[in-house]
Amino acid sequence: MDASHAEQDLVNVLFTEAQITARLQEMADEIAADYEGKDLLLVGILRGAVMVMADLSRALPRHVEMDWIAISSYGSGTKSSGVVRLIKDLDTDISNRHVLVVDEIIDTGLTLSWLVNSLGSRNAASVEIATLLRKPDALTMPVEPKYVGWDIPNEFVVGYGLDYREKYRNLRDIATLSPHVYS
Ligand code: IMP
Ligand code: MG
Repeated sequence: MDASHAEQDLVNVLFTEAQITARLQEMADEIAADYEGKDLLLVGILRGAVMVMADLSRALPRHVEMDWIAISSYGSGTKSSGVVRLIKDLDTDISNRHVLVVDEIIDTGLTLSWLVNSLGSRNAASVEIATLLRKPDALTMPVEPKYVGWDIPNEFVVGYGLDYREKYRNLRDIATLSPHVYS
C-alpha cells in the first residue's frame, strides 16, 4: 500500500519507494566492489528485513546466496524488551564464508550485537552488517555496520518491512507513525 492508504496513521513520509530503491542500488554497488572475487552469503533477519533483502539482493550485479535467521528483541510494542531470543537459526554452515547480515533498522543495537557475536563464534571468514536505517541516538550497544542507508532521528518508523504490531510492513514508503496509533 501507499502512504495515502494509511494517511491518518502517519505523520511524515521519511523515504519514498523511489528513494529507497535508489539508495539500495548505491549500497549494492559498493558491496559488489568490496566483495569482488569473494563468495558472499547474505543473511536476512526475519521478518523486518524481507523487503531490504529482496531489493538489495536483486540490485547486486553478481551471484549471492541467501539465508535467514529469526530473532526477537521486541515485545509487540514500540520498545525493545531487552531480551534477545533465537527463533530460527541459519540452515547454512557459515565456516569460511563471507557473511553480510542484512537488516532494516538498528535501534539500540541489542539484536545485532548479539547476532554478530553469535555468528562470530562459527568461524566465518568475515561478518559485516548492511542496514537500511540506523538511529544513532538510540544506540546502546557497540554495533558498527559497514553499510548504512540513512541515519534517522530516534522516532518510531513503519513501512518497507518495519511494523507496528505486525501492521504497515507492506507500506511502500518509510514513515513516522502517529502517536495516536500506539497511545
Ligand atoms: P535493536 O535490537 O534495538 O537494534 O532493534 C532491532 C529491531 O527492532 C529491528 O530489527 C526492528 O525489528 C525493531 N525496531 C527498532 N526500531 C524500530 C522502529 O522504529 N520501527 C519498527 N521496528 C523497529
Ligand atoms: Mg528486525
